[in-house]
Amino acid sequence: MRKIVLYIAASLDGYIARSNGNIDWLHDEKYTIPDEDFGYSAFMKTIDTTLMGHSTYKEILSFDAPFPYLDTKNFVFSRSLKQNTEDVEFINNDAAEFIKQLKQQPGKDIWLIGGGQLNTLVLNTGLLDKIILTYIPIVLGEGIPIFTKGTKEQKLKLKQLESKQYSNGFVQAVYNI
Ligand SMILES: NC(=O)c1ccc[n+]([C@@H]2O[C@H](COP(=O)([O-])OP(=O)(O)OC[C@H]3O[C@@H](n4cnc5c(N)ncnc54)[C@H](OP(=O)(O)O)[C@@H]3O)[C@@H](O)[C@H]2O)c1
Repeated sequence: MRKIVLYIAASLDGYIARSNGNIDWLHDEKYTIPDEDFGYSAFMKTIDTTLMGHSTYKEILSFDAPFPYLDTKNFVFSRSLKQNTEDVEFINNDAAEFIKQLKQQPGKDIWLIGGGQLNTLVLNTGLLDKIILTYIPIVLGEGIPIFTKGTKEQKLKLKQLESKQYSNGFVQAVYNI
């Protein structure tokens, strides 16, 4: 069965965005390493579908750039938005059942983009298979956590051979659930 993979970056204290949703701290020029994309393009070849929460979708639309995921089927979870666009389909009802059905369909793996609310839903329903978490060497002190309140305890298995460290201080840990 195809896997659901959370591929995400977080501060050392576990935040994926500032409290106002801003992710400016991820895009510091000093983190650039020539010809290094931290496994992104290789990962993109393994997936054909993305899942994101409405807040994450809004953050992506706020970038001064075209919608970035044009080669994948994209699902946005929202109880308030229903009008599909040419880029995304909105899922309003029974998110867990929808994701369960999606996993059973043939296809490549599924990228759980985030954010924290959707990550929690997928983890709590037992549908998450893998986490590729890039720790950014910064402490934010407050923000939106990778998993929100109400997350069930979950033990993870570190895949040592797939985990990596980079010269800019990034540490990419790969976990199986
Ligand atoms: N660091 C990174 O790599 C990274 C990656 C991804 C996201 N982020 C950041 O994460 C932040 C957003 O995280 P978040 O936790 O605030 O929000 P989120 O998970 O992206 O979205 C939350 C929204 O999803 C909808 N939703 C949640 N549960 C649902 C359900 N069961 N059924 C249907 N819809 C549901 C609701 O939308 P409605 O209110 O419309 O009902 C809810 O307000 C953004 O700032 C984004 O930039 C960072």
